[in-house]
Amino acid sequence: MSEAILTVENLVAGYGNANVLNGISVQAQDRAITCLLGANGVGKSTLIKAIFGLVPVRQGTVRFLGQDITGWETHRVVAQGLASIPEGNRVFPRMSVLDNLMAGAYLERSRAKIASRLERVMALFPRLAERRDQFAGTLSGESVRCCRSAAG
Ligand SMILES: Nc1ncnc2c1ncn2[C@@H]1O[C@H](COP(=O)(O)OP(=O)(O)OP(=O)(O)O)[C@@H](O)[C@H]1O
Ligand SMILES: [Mg+2]
Repeated sequence: MSEAILTVENLVAGYGNANVLNGISVQAQDRAITCLLGANGVGKSTLIKAIFGLVPVRQGTVRFLGQDITGWETHRVVAQGLASIPEGNRVFPRMSVLDNLMAGAYLERSRAKIASRLERVMALFPRLAERRDQFAGTLSGESVRCCRSAAG
């Protein structure tokens, strides 16, 4: 098996006096889709938030591409190449579809790379190409999900 690109070991995290995660360990392999399944309220979102520095890590480690990113601030984690797409149809409703997509490219400095990435996204999700100049808040639920996936 190839080496894991994301490794969470013995992670403890929670809110206030309560721990929600009590020493969880998970791995995600390169070029694989890894699903985290569990009952409502069991702590799936808390795990993602802890990886992204949105919930403090109390114990344990998070490694990404061989680097210890435990407790890093969110913007630093994202700059390493990790992205999170939160649940719900969240877009910037009063910005155009194109501007929403561009928001997902804020770390890329190369205009050429942004342009080619945008082309690929528009080919993958043609509805977005048709609607690139309209407010994202006027999209249907399905198109919103395309927009968020593409930007993330
Ligand atoms: N901001 C918060 N403050 C206090 N407790 C919270 C907070 N967010 C979540 N919790 C609690 O932490 C526990 C885990 O919640 P979490 O959202 O991680 O679960 P989940 O597995 O993602 O659930 P779902 O399947 O509903 O998305 C729940 O008991 C929840 O009530
Ligand atoms: Mg959740």
